[in-house]
Amino acid sequence: MESLRIEGGVPLSGTVRIDGAKNAALPACVAALLTDEPIVLHRVPQLRDVSTILYTLGALGKRVVRHGDHVAIAAGSGLSSEADPYSVRQMRASFLVLGPLVARLGEAVVPLPGGCRLGARPIDLHLRALRTLGARIEEREGIVHARAERLHGARIDLPLPSVGATEQILMAASLAAGETVLTNASIEPEVLDLVRLLQEMGAEIGVSGREMRIVGRERLHAAEHTVIPDRHEAGTYLLAGAITKGRVTVSGVESDALKAFLGALRETGTRILVEEDAVTVEPGGTARPISIATAPYPGFPTDLHPQFAAYLSTIPGLSRIEERIFESRFAYVDALCAMGAQLSRTGTTLTIEGVETLRSAAVSATDIRAGAALVLAGLAAEGYTCVTELEHIDRGYSCLEGKLENLGARIERRSD
Ligand code: EPZ
Repeated sequence: MESLRIEGGVPLSGTVRIDGAKNAALPACVAALLTDEPIVLHRVPQLRDVSTILYTLGALGKRVVRHGDHVAIAAGSGLSSEADPYSVRQMRASFLVLGPLVARLGEAVVPLPGGCRLGARPIDLHLRALRTLGARIEEREGIVHARAERLHGARIDLPLPSVGATEQILMAASLAAGETVLTNASIEPEVLDLVRLLQEMGAEIGVSGREMRIVGRERLHAAEHTVIPDRHEAGTYLLAGAITKGRVTVSGVESDALKAFLGALRETGTRILVEEDAVTVEPGGTARPISIATAPYPGFPTDLHPQFAAYLSTIPGLSRIEERIFESRFAYVDALCAMGAQLSRTGTTLTIEGVETLRSAAVSATDIRAGAALVLAGLAAEGYTCVTELEHIDRGYSCLEGKLENLGARIERRSD
């Protein structure tokens, strides 16, 4: 079993270049199913989740070539309508292949998704939307069977701005007959990056606030696209600088996409310098406790909640985090308490009584962002912290220990 061994207490300093966004790269890869022509993607992060989605596309018949963070996806000998059960169950984002397959082939057989244990994670909005677009859908023994002569445009009002459901609808509607009007859509930067790729492929999509209009086309064509930077990776490294009272710059970012996060960081009194494509945290300033609530974009991102909680755990005073997206985003709390954090949860609100120093411990990651939070806590704790279950972290962060080491962290990956 692999583990990260971290010696805490070292102020980090230096610059880390941020990768392309995992949550933009995954739907971008799936969009290649919408055409037989080649799709070339740049700045695709080298992550397990990306390997999983590329494996899924290969198993469906796509020809995939990957060279570093460049990926080319082209037609193979034919496209299958049956997704590989193993890879879909391994990662929830693989479920996005359902809409494109039905739109292209008129049928699809896709297992119900797996992925991070963040509570129920239903897909009812995905299925309801595809039915509204004309697909006949049955669920049998954990497998979704969908059929449609040809999907047709429709009006879809999402009860909540689901990222995945918005992406599923965007891709399916791009090849449907007629116009689809989607309201209360997710407008996360990663979703808008998918819109840009689909437009580059010839899709006719208009976005106005949370309303999206998609006029379906007969077919889409080849495109070349560079994925946006990963705001969650950027936020994680900025917090690594803040929690160790160091000076860390994240480069190659879109600071606009980090507005809510940077606003909260600034509210804690952390000194930050914001440029267009780089952000720096600096030592000094008087850190103070704050209250935040997660929300769909442009609100504070749930994917930076655990990492921010680790930072607030080291700021004396009473802070609060209210989680409004995932009921079980709090999986990191027990492990953080084992490191001396004073946390108590009531329903969807976590109260944090900041402590001067965290103590090292042996802890396990439970999901991507919980794992990242424990690494941050280890960077600040006294002594040696050991983090296990690294497969979760490796799904969302490439070369985490290498990038932290380049910032001066004393961290090594060990395999027992
Ligand atoms: C995406 O997950 C991201 N994953 C998540 O990042 C991110 O935390 C989440 O959006 C919220 O921003 C990818 O993009 C691959 P949702 P997704 O559909 O699409 C409920 C990470 O660490 N819901 O917006 O699954 C759902 O239960 C991951 O990178 C339904 O009720 O998120 C949740 O409470 C973790 N029915 C809320 O909506 C549905 O059919 C938001 O889910 C779909 C969702």
